[in-house]
Amino acid sequence: MSRQPLLVVVLAAGQGTRMQSALPKVLHKIAGRSMLGHVLATAQSLEPQAVAVVIGPDMDDVRKEALRQIPSAQIFVQEERKGTADALLAARDAIAAHRGEVIVLYGDTPLLTSATLHKLQRRLENVAAAVLGFEAADPTGYGRLILGDGDIVTAIREDRDATDAERAIRICNSGVLAFRAGPSQIPDLVALLQRIGNANSKGEYYLTDAIEILAKDRMPSGVVVCDEEEVLGVNSREQLAAAEAIFQKRARLAAMRGGATLIAPETVWFSYDTRIGRDVTIEPNVFFGPEVTVEDGVEILANCHFERARIGRGARIGPFARLRPGAMLGDGVHVGNFVEVKNTTLGTGAKANHLSYLGDGTVGAGANIGAGTIFCNYDGFFKHRTEIGEGAFIGSNTALVAPVTVGEGAYVGSGSVITKNVPAGALALERSSQEERPGWAAKFRAMMAKRKAKSA
Ligand code: UD1
Ligand code: MG
Repeated sequence: MSRQPLLVVVLAAGQGTRMQSALPKVLHKIAGRSMLGHVLATAQSLEPQAVAVVIGPDMDDVRKEALRQIPSAQIFVQEERKGTADALLAARDAIAAHRGEVIVLYGDTPLLTSATLHKLQRRLENVAAAVLGFEAADPTGYGRLILGDGDIVTAIREDRDATDAERAIRICNSGVLAFRAGPSQIPDLVALLQRIGNANSKGEYYLTDAIEILAKDRMPSGVVVCDEEEVLGVNSREQLAAAEAIFQKRARLAAMRGGATLIAPETVWFSYDTRIGRDVTIEPNVFFGPEVTVEDGVEILANCHFERARIGRGARIGPFARLRPGAMLGDGVHVGNFVEVKNTTLGTGAKANHLSYLGDGTVGAGANIGAGTIFCNYDGFFKHRTEIGEGAFIGSNTALVAPVTVGEGAYVGSGSVITKNVPAGALALERSSQEERPGWAAKFRAMMAKRKAKSA
């Protein structure tokens, strides 16, 4: 934990033109959560005193997303994109009011972990600033860290302003920076940022120049090195997919370490918030949307899609099952192939094993839903509920026209269209009665055979 009060500033003013999107870059999602959401969640895990987010003009959606995650976040608008130092200065009111640590994060670097940020905070103990660096497989385009003695960094040189010798350096700047603002260290961080000029090849105010200015003032800056994967910056859809892949790799490992068996981990897709219990088995090709909880001992067969659903202990789901928002499955429930469940609760041990749509209803414990059962929940204007009592038996190919109730232990005959409530323990049957003509088949065949012979 930070010993000093912490202010986190997230720079998110970039529109992200290379994304080719109507959506601001930081709102693009990784594992179902915006990149900004990921960064803010990591920021929150540091228990900061305050969080500031710098957005571009006309970025109301970004403002909303930031406030959804952290209602107390202070939002600042950088009117013109004049560089990272100018972006940080947009939050000058928050910075000027703050004494302690200031960490700067980028909204498009979503994979950073709080463990790494804790290291950066620790590094700050005896330096004025700390830079998060990484060894780049291909350093092209990144700022290079010019190192002095030990892990002291004396300057950061942007790629396009670097000499050939500087360009040969492989330790790069991730963009994440931490400062110690206050009397014992940087006395006035705003004043320091205001000293940064724009005499460089881009004509931008580079935040990275702060390090050289500090060095000249005899205030050393330290460096912490992390994995390149963690500081992947997303500027294009390809990089978005690359970040997603890294996130998924981490999520699969976490699920397995938590006691789940993934037969083909690379084919299982988690949401940022998926909760998986122990002794859960997941077969290939399963996709988790947001807000899914899977209790212990669940078996998920191949090719399923889940979102906003809960799967109780020991349940068996799939193959080819779809759980939509509000699917609440009790312990030991079976939901089989081509069954869709939406906004419906299934009690302990209830079964719907084949080809059904269960929408807007409740199914009591131990009830059995036959193949091809449909909850007809929508009349074109309103949604209605279907309630099925404990232990009831719904015959195959039944349409339950909601609103409708089937009482405890009742039976519904196959092929029925149920429009009226069925009392507990009753049999409801809605279909024309069967007619039989003994010996008809033989007579029919004889007649048809004769007719065919004549026409030949
Ligand atoms: C920056 C660093 C570089 C580092 C690289 C890592 C500087 C000068 N350079 O370069 O050393 O290796 O990141 O990816 O900081 N932003 C604003 N307003 C602006 C400019 C930028 O909000 O006026 C935001 C962007 O939205 C982005 C971040 O700051 O989230 C970084 O800006 P970007 O232009 O991507 O900097 P790089 O050239 O990648
Ligand atoms: Mg960048």
